[in-house]
Amino acid sequence: MKTYPDMRLRRLRKSPEIREILTETRIRKEKLIMPMFIDENLSRPEEIKTMPGIFRYSEGTFIDKVKEYEEMGIRSVLLFGIPKSKDSRGSSSYDPKGIIQRSIKKIKDETGIVVFSDLCLCEYTDNGHCGLVVGDRIDNDSTLEIYARIAKSYAEAGTDGVAPSGMMDGQVGRIRRELDSSGFTDTLIMAYSSKFSSSLYSPFREAAYSAPSFGDRRTYQMNYANRNEAMREIEEDIEEGADIVMVKPALFYLDIVREARNRFQLPLAAYSVSAEYSMLMAASSMGFIDLAPTVIEANSAIFRAGADIVITYFAEFMVNKGLI
Ligand code: PBG
Ligand code: ZN
Repeated sequence: MKTYPDMRLRRLRKSPEIREILTETRIRKEKLIMPMFIDENLSRPEEIKTMPGIFRYSEGTFIDKVKEYEEMGIRSVLLFGIPKSKDSRGSSSYDPKGIIQRSIKKIKDETGIVVFSDLCLCEYTDNGHCGLVVGDRIDNDSTLEIYARIAKSYAEAGTDGVAPSGMMDGQVGRIRRELDSSGFTDTLIMAYSSKFSSSLYSPFREAAYSAPSFGDRRTYQMNYANRNEAMREIEEDIEEGADIVMVKPALFYLDIVREARNRFQLPLAAYSVSAEYSMLMAASSMGFIDLAPTVIEANSAIFRAGADIVITYFAEFMVNKGLI
């Protein structure tokens, strides 16, 4: 590209109107997904200590919140359930009358909100792992059978999409087969394709009481040092039938988002996780940053990196404050 001596890029910034016309990336509320925690043990909403402004909702209260989101113009939620009882097989996860199954049905009956349901075992197992524990390891293939049952129960309840987050090999293919063979060919799979073993999930684990009771998740979640492997994970999910692929976390992984954008044509989601929220909230409460513009800058960066959809705990905040 030829640069003239009189090239003046500042011409592009000279007034608010011109800057507005030339803005390349804009956050649109239809492109955001708001995560929600529904806790079977509660009778009223409870604020999550490490995530100020984010609540665990009770079964009697979540629906009003969802209706509020719909009114605000938020189109979609991602549901997480916290069950009354946990066991070694996470059996309340696939209970047709379980907390998430009941919640999906209520949302679909009473609102037009698009429902994605997180599909994993860690909130349902007494050991907090995302798969079945056999001896001292997490067994891949027996876990897939449980995931298939969860997927079917969510689809029967009417979920628009399932979002498998356990990072078991073959999970997307096994779930797609189950959905198709039970007649749910229209149920989407939004795959947590390259989900890294990250320190940024700790507020979530407190929120959902899902920290592993022994060991860690490094035999199934990815090593954050590995970019090539992340591409293989995404490629594999595409081959197995994912409709939407995801990179998680978002802000520390924008190179992965960009590379996935360049390589693959599927809708690409990025999950801006719990500690991405908590870090900004903490810095703001200390008076170190100005929250609103920082949140917009952070989310603009995720879209600019190439995400089509951002899952963010700030969705409600951004819309409520009139920032988008
Ligand atoms: C469940 C799951 C987790 C998150 C989403 N789904 C926790 C984990 O893997 O430990 C994290 C979300 C967040 O931190 O906001 N597998
Ligand atoms: Zn999990």
